[in-house]
Amino acid sequence: MSEPTPLTESAVEQATDAAIAAFAAATTLAELRTARAAHAGEQSPLAQFNASLKTIPVEERAAAGKLVGQGRARVGEALSAREAELAVAEENARLAGEAVDVTAVASRWRTGSRHPLSLLMEHMGDVFVGMGWEIAEGPELENEWFNFDSLNFDEDHPARAMQDTFFIDPVESHLVLRTHTSPVQIRSLLTRDLPVYVVAPGRVFRTDELDATHTPVFHQIEGIAIDKGLTMAHLRGTLEHLARAMFGAEAQIRLRPNYFPFTEPSAEMDVWQPNAKGGARWVEWGGCGMVNRNVLRAAGIDPDEYQGFAFGMGIERTLQFRNDMNDMRDMVEGDIRFSQQFGMVV
Ligand code: PHE
Repeated sequence: MSEPTPLTESAVEQATDAAIAAFAAATTLAELRTARAAHAGEQSPLAQFNASLKTIPVEERAAAGKLVGQGRARVGEALSAREAELAVAEENARLAGEAVDVTAVASRWRTGSRHPLSLLMEHMGDVFVGMGWEIAEGPELENEWFNFDSLNFDEDHPARAMQDTFFIDPVESHLVLRTHTSPVQIRSLLTRDLPVYVVAPGRVFRTDELDATHTPVFHQIEGIAIDKGLTMAHLRGTLEHLARAMFGAEAQIRLRPNYFPFTEPSAEMDVWQPNAKGGARWVEWGGCGMVNRNVLRAAGIDPDEYQGFAFGMGIERTLQFRNDMNDMRDMVEGDIRFSQQFGMVV
């Protein structure tokens, strides 16, 4: 160990000045802690001077003690002053780092929007709810019996091939992707009390290639009303009401004789488009008719007591006519820009 520095006035002054200079040089609280250990800690020169006081002759001890005491007091003051300074500086730096620029331009979040087909389906449903009808649903993976048999399609009736069906493996499962929403007719009749007034919007499937006018997955809205004394006039009035709600007060409909196994008589329904791009025209909109007596029987209803009508039309076609759209593919590609054109209103 080296000889301890003798306790002199200049030695105390030097140690004090060195301590104060070291505190001033510290730029962080961590550096200040290191400087404090070196200049005010137990091994520091001033602490050693303090400890050596007891070895000093009694008559000199008071003066030496005063000298060391003053030095240590100055060092203590300098330390706490610098500590306070650095604490404020560090707090300020931290706050500056956390500052949020409330005037900065925020990155742009695109809000999504619901698909126009969903909106239109809901809108069409609402037209019926407004007349006191109910909304019904059925499964997309449907039992062949509901999709065909109960709707009066014979086992080998050519009408069964009228719709190009996705059959589900194994064939014995008798499951199909429903080719139309008409199975919901039977489902509604089997689960509800009469009279029945329901519409069933939903997704349907046919083995079509995707092109401008076909898509293998599309949507229909089905309607069925069963009550006492319903006639074709009720059917016509209902469809006319829907046509006006969809295409405006001047819209008209036209029924042309057609064939569906589940309605008799059956009709194809056209709607008059006075404002079509290429000029006013009739366009085919859907199918309809009076519910076939065999369908009522399949649902356990006495056809002499209850009668009714049914209809079904494509939602995609409705959107096409309503919004003058030519290409069906725009509706299925899922490009958000397509949906956004409609906002949340079709
Ligand atoms: N389900 C028929 C179709 O998809 C439409 C229809 C529904 C016809 C109800 C008559 C009655 O072509």
